[in-house]
Amino acid sequence: MTRFSGQVGIVTGAGSGLGEFIAGRLAAEGAHVVVADVDGEAAERVAAVVGGTPSVTDVTIADEVVEMVATARAAATAHGPLRSLVLSAAVETRAGVADCTDDDWQRVIDVNLKGPFLCMKHAVPAMIDASGGSIVALGSTLGQITQPQYAAYCASKFGLNNLCKQVAIEHAKDGIRVNVVAPSATTTGLFMKLTEQAPDPEAIRTMVAGNTPMQRLASPEEVAEAVLFLLSDAASYTSGAVLPVDGGLAARRT
Ligand SMILES: NC(=O)c1ccc[n+]([C@@H]2O[C@H](COP(=O)([O-])OP(=O)(O)OC[C@H]3O[C@@H](n4cnc5c(N)ncnc54)[C@H](O)[C@@H]3O)[C@@H](O)[C@H]2O)c1
Repeated sequence: MTRFSGQVGIVTGAGSGLGEFIAGRLAAEGAHVVVADVDGEAAERVAAVVGGTPSVTDVTIADEVVEMVATARAAATAHGPLRSLVLSAAVETRAGVADCTDDDWQRVIDVNLKGPFLCMKHAVPAMIDASGGSIVALGSTLGQITQPQYAAYCASKFGLNNLCKQVAIEHAKDGIRVNVVAPSATTTGLFMKLTEQAPDPEAIRTMVAGNTPMQRLASPEEVAEAVLFLLSDAASYTSGAVLPVDGGLAARRT
């Protein structure tokens, strides 16, 4: 038996980066994973690798989120109750307040904040039916400190922290825990994609690592360890927390 045997978990944004890595770790520890992503090909690819069920889901569209939860309920009849929800889907845009277009602002807030709202709104009743569960959202160091040129992303991640605390309080009595893992730059996903657009990606990565107290980037393993801990029964009395996985970065500024 492993920590998540006989359970179903949903991971949004599981087609890439941290979500893909976390889906793999959850599956390796026994869960049947609903691999949800707006990118259908990516969802199919990762679901095939982890032995899960793909779900082509845009987290900003309520009907698609309802369908994703229905997929998890259907999987539960064969694989056990829905116990885990990981909210990893997100986008970012590089712009300050004065430069950020209305469309970019709306897109980031929709995916990063409305998406988790819709996913929790529709998954929580399924978790209540299953007598409880654990939700972990991928936040960011940029949900705790401000960063010039990331206005929409920072606002979305600050809002996400508060939304998760809200759900944690509202549903504690239902046996549902909600926590946020807040990584700094990692060696995968959005950060690597963003730095690839720079003339010298390695120089940016070295500079960002050098600004971190531990002088390096986070690995996806380190982020996944924190997520799986919070999903697991080992964190049974922890809810409403924001856990930094950032090499000490946020501590320096708060
Ligand atoms: N990579 C990092 O360095 C880093 C650092 C801090 C926080 N984070 C957070 O970790 C999480 C995962 O980021 P990542 O770096 O793995 O990014 P990523 O770009 O590799 O993966 C994000 C996934 O979300 C999917 N997605 C985008 N919009 C969607 C939508 N509307 N509906 C469903 N899926 C959608 C994408 O298709 C993609 O597969 C995000 O919440 C991000 O903010 C990442």
